[in-house]
Parts: sequence; C-alpha cells; structure tokens
Amino acid sequence: MEKCKILLIHGPNLNLLGIREPQIYGDIDFKTLNDIITKKAEEKGFEITILQSNWEGQIIDWIQDLGSKMDFIIINAGALTHYSYAIRDAISAIKKPTIEVHLSNIYAREDFRHKSVIAPVCIGQISGFGIYSYLLALDYISYICNS
Ligand code: DQA
Repeated sequence: MEKCKILLIHGPNLNLLGIREPQIYGDIDFKTLNDIITKKAEEKGFEITILQSNWEGQIIDWIQDLGSKMDFIIINAGALTHYSYAIRDAISAIKKPTIEVHLSNIYAREDFRHKSVIAPVCIGQISGFGIYSYLLALDYISYICNS
C-alpha cells in the first residue's frame, strides 16, 4: 500500500515557538515540535513534509505546488488564518482535504482571532490543545488512511 502523504505548513512566527509567549504557546521549541510530529507520522506509516514561512506568497506557492501532490494538508496559518483570503482561495483551488490547526484556543482570545477565513474551506479545525492539536490531526488522518 502506498504511504499516505501529508504536507504540514506552519505560518508566520511559528518558528519562534518556545521563545514566543510561552504562557500561550508552550515552551516546546519549533524543532522539538517538528521532531515529535515527524516521529508520530512515521510510526503511523505516513510520509510527511514540514515547512514554515513568514511569507503569505510562499505559503500559497507551497499549497499550489506541493499540496496538490499530497493526500492531506495540515496548516497552522498563524495570524494569516484571520485575514488571508489568498490562502483560503489556494486551499479551495487545489481541493485536497485540509485540516486547520492552532496551538491556542483562538475563541478564548482577542476578538480578531475568533474568525478564521480559511475554516470554511477546511474539513475541520483543531484549536486549543497545544502541540496535541497537530497530533490529533495525525490521528484523524490515520483513521482515514489506515483503515
Ligand atoms: C495560532 C493562533 C493565531 O491567532 C496566532 O496569530 C498564531 C498562532 C495558534 O497556533 O494558536 O500565530 O495560529
């Protein structure tokens, strides 16, 4: 059986994990987070590509060029979640099942974070479970791909 291919995109400022507002985002650094995700993805037999950019256009290029070759996309678009119609359109255009992930509970924070413009084009959203938000996304994919 072919391996299930996943593209994980981290958006702006997620590279600062561990340093950035640890009371909100936790104290695990970005590399450790990706190591944990990679380990779990490999245990489940997935092939995962993990990328991070602070640039909206770069994220759109990745969704178009790489996302279209994947079985699933997991995206934490950071603050772009709340206003990037361009990322929303890119997800919509390539028609691949996309899971929106957030470390923090965006609904328990400032008003501007309560709206996700990408949520309507994603299959679902996981928000508020810290690094487990990503692992829950992998569990869902495992349910679909490995059963
Ligand atoms: C975030 C929530 C966003 O509102 C914020 O801009 C981020 C991180 C999260 O993972 O909780 O950069 O996406």
